[in-house]
Amino acid sequence: MGEAGAPTSPQPDQKSFADRTKATVTRRDFLIGAGAGAATAAVVLGGAAVATKAIQPTQTTTTATGAGNLSAVPATMRRVELNIDGNKHTVLVDNRESLWETMNFQLGLSNSNLGCDRAQCGACAVLVDGKAVNSCTMLSARLGRGQQVKTVAGLATGPGIAGLHPIQRAFWLEGGFQCGICTRGFIMSTVALLAANPRPTDIQIAEGLSGNICRCGEYAKVFKSVQTAAAEMRGEKVTYRAIPVVVEVAKPATVNPAAAGTSKDFQFVTPLATIEEFDPLAATIKKSDGVLDVSGNERSITIKWDAAKLDETKVRTILTNSGHPVR
Ligand code: FES
Ligand code: FES
Repeated sequence: MGEAGAPTSPQPDQKSFADRTKATVTRRDFLIGAGAGAATAAVVLGGAAVATKAIQPTQTTTTATGAGNLSAVPATMRRVELNIDGNKHTVLVDNRESLWETMNFQLGLSNSNLGCDRAQCGACAVLVDGKAVNSCTMLSARLGRGQQVKTVAGLATGPGIAGLHPIQRAFWLEGGFQCGICTRGFIMSTVALLAANPRPTDIQIAEGLSGNICRCGEYAKVFKSVQTAAAEMRGEKVTYRAIPVVVEVAKPATVNPAAAGTSKDFQFVTPLATIEEFDPLAATIKKSDGVLDVSGNERSITIKWDAAKLDETKVRTILTNSGHPVR
């Protein structure tokens, strides 16, 4: 996780907005350029924005620290004072520049991830006055009127896991992430959700986080993380699930392999919904005659059996009969 407990993404190139402006008009260029009079000729044909002349900013965007001369700011730019996580930044922004772009390219704040860059995945979510918004499509030029921007970096109150916000702690300890690309967005949307509804049902969580997509499919653990965080924020005592640790024990060289048992890893055809389902399943499998040991997780299971009583085919049948066939 990054400075506030969320996974860290690579630093984007420190290029100016003008450098990154393309020779074509994007959806954002069209929407914003039309409003600001920057797009010189754009028409909508069949629902698609088509440009006949590229937009060129009149000057590159630079960070400004002084009050500056407002009359010197071209019509395509704005000078705004952004309040991000309690810190004020006075910056000169292009009218088409997103909050995410300003934070990353101008201010060097890598506190939100960019996924789709078109308001569809929620990876870039931050709070503006407590409301979760997609920073990839929130224009910086529309901020600067006292709005409070909060990112995942503004949540923690101290070092280590103890210093994390309860929502960050829950996502971390419940494993509500895999690659982490979506995690900052989920955390910020959860902050907004729990502020409005301290005791959400799973249906309300699904609704509250409906703007966030996890490509790794960790939704079950995300929901568990939200419920755990909600409980802690209500002042309830929470217990995080134990993370199993597998200890490899070397076999003595003199042990007869048949007597020690035969062991094989299997992949579930359909992974278990959560790791919590594994222990009850393992307990059931262990009751089968000839099964010596069972270990694994929600995706795979390792069975050790007595070769005098079972073979692989019979072990597969045991698993199938338990309702969890394996590959
Ligand atoms: S990157 Fe902003 S919604 Fe996907
Ligand atoms: S953890 Fe990978 S996209 Fe959600």
